[in-house]
Amino acid sequence: MGFELEKLQITDLDLSNSKVLLRVDFNVPLDSAQNITDDTRIRRALPTIKYLLEKNCSIIILSHLGRPDGKVNTNYSLSPCAKHLAKLLDIPLTIANDCISEQTITLASRLKPKEILFLENLRFYEAEKHPKNDPLFAKTLASLGDYFINDAFGCAHRKHSSITEIPKYLPDRSAMGFLMQRELENFNKYLRSPKKPFFAVVGGSKVSSKSGVLASLLQQVDALFIGGAMAVSMLQAKGDLPCQAKNTSDILDICKHIFTISKDLNVPIFLPTDFIIADSLEKPASIKTTNLENAFPSNYTAYDIGPKTIFEWKNKIQDSQTIFWNGPLGVFEKKDFANGTFEIAKAISRLQCTKIAGGGDSVASINQLHIENKFTHLSTGGGAFLELIEHKTLPGIDALTDSK
Ligand code: 3PG
Repeated sequence: MGFELEKLQITDLDLSNSKVLLRVDFNVPLDSAQNITDDTRIRRALPTIKYLLEKNCSIIILSHLGRPDGKVNTNYSLSPCAKHLAKLLDIPLTIANDCISEQTITLASRLKPKEILFLENLRFYEAEKHPKNDPLFAKTLASLGDYFINDAFGCAHRKHSSITEIPKYLPDRSAMGFLMQRELENFNKYLRSPKKPFFAVVGGSKVSSKSGVLASLLQQVDALFIGGAMAVSMLQAKGDLPCQAKNTSDILDICKHIFTISKDLNVPIFLPTDFIIADSLEKPASIKTTNLENAFPSNYTAYDIGPKTIFEWKNKIQDSQTIFWNGPLGVFEKKDFANGTFEIAKAISRLQCTKIAGGGDSVASINQLHIENKFTHLSTGGGAFLELIEHKTLPGIDALTDSK
């Protein structure tokens, strides 16, 4: 059975004229001038927001942005997201300076139907990430509204105050929004029992946070392709990249464990066989292509997969019936190191099979190439989607009200 049937949906509640707390995931990429470079996550939340406005609700929007570590940091202000949302909706909205001050509580209490109050970054509070340290944070947030709608699929894998704790204070009034519903429907349809062979391509820089998921992906896929910074760690653990000694022994142990699982399950892991390396990411004076036989010069770092890898992977993925891609394969924001990500994205888009991509960066690169319509589903979740594949549910879904 799908989660949509087990948990309350937004349309199950009589929300007319009520005050709704809406958790969204507006953790969008911003450039150095605080411009949003990909607004997919904001646009995907519009159906829920518009529905609430049609129901004459007043809406209190909650989100996080980045990882400011429990401290106020204006670089992580949600103000650009709030302003962008106001533009997309073509209505003014109020931006609060924080989440739970007296002033914000008053603003929330005075909200009228069809008005929106956008709270500042939840992660400016340590209690967002560590609910047990200060349960009052979630309790105060919950007290601002009559109902809780969670449309933040991208962070539904986090046991944070705004995800798993608010519903405890609104036990029979916590439902999922349309974005969450769509994500779960697509997961049920395509990845709960994927057509085989099922391949996964995983990249990105969050090495330590993805290792557990890689181990579990191996239980489900028929082949795993690993790119990005993680591939460098894996190759180093294998003894194939002697010069890139930037990994700690814990990370190398995790990588070795992943190789053991792959061997035990007889599921191949494909790693890059060449890289684009440079002496600097910001201002490279020298960029080279190198294969694994040639050790990297010590002042060079790998920033993308190389042409040989692209060629090999393009051939190998032809056999897939379902393919899932999460995480860029190089530093695709820099044009010198974008080729691997773009070429593999295009190659996946051309396959005649079920094609799912997840994660802010992967989706942003697909949008840049204008090939979004060629994918079966683009998920707004990166880590969340990976954990959904692993556990078949997420803490943020479990926390919502049962539909029975
Ligand atoms: C994401 O971008 O994957 C989500 O917003 C979650 O962010 P986090 O990994 O910082 O919790």
